[in-house]
Amino acid sequence: MVNFGNLLQYLAVQSPQQILSGDQLNTTAMAAYTLPALPYAYDALEPHISAQIMELHHSKHHAAYVANLNNALQSHVVAVTSSDIASQIALQAAIKFNGGGHINHSLFWQNLAPASSEEAKSEAAPSLTAEIQKTWGSFDAFKKAFSTTLLGIQGSGWGWLVKDGSGLRIVTTKDQDPVVGGEIPIFGVDMWEHAYYLQYLNGKAAYVENIWNVINWKTAEERFLGTREDIFKTLSAAL
Ligand SMILES: [Fe+2]
Repeated sequence: MVNFGNLLQYLAVQSPQQILSGDQLNTTAMAAYTLPALPYAYDALEPHISAQIMELHHSKHHAAYVANLNNALQSHVVAVTSSDIASQIALQAAIKFNGGGHINHSLFWQNLAPASSEEAKSEAAPSLTAEIQKTWGSFDAFKKAFSTTLLGIQGSGWGWLVKDGSGLRIVTTKDQDPVVGGEIPIFGVDMWEHAYYLQYLNGKAAYVENIWNVINWKTAEERFLGTREDIFKTLSAAL
């Protein structure tokens, strides 16, 4: 279950906008979220993820989450300003879905890298891989466990490697729910059909097998060594 307060905290960390309160609350003062540029070209993840998928996924799907989030937040400010609690409650689902979509995809683009790059080698994450080996016994055992979890997701959702107070865990989130609470997302994999269907059709297992070639282990290492605040500060700087 997503904690709505945490989601708003995420959005606040991500956004360069000022904190609005009291008389400052008005729609014209709201800064809009923007679609972050990809840190690589649309064809940079080929042959594992096609340029066509990347372009549609980023410029259409992610862009739609950003636009819908801005619309929902603007309506929410109007509802707050007019003390319309019913509308405020009605807008929460749209803020959660589109805010989560914006957060998840922003994290996802950053935790992918071209297969030929140094970042895509697990050696770029010495501390993280040592902890992975400690937790799952071997790197291959972790990959198998993560892949099995991804393939077990029913419907649309995400698989994540997260860090919490007790160590590393594999978790899933439904639809566009982001990782919340005390967990730090190390890397995530989009398991919505729009992430693979144009290239892999119903071959979901092949998509999962190939995603390992384009995980950005340098980013994963930085997230593992940092705090949740660090992650979203870095993300915010890239937006
Ligand atoms: Fe997606």
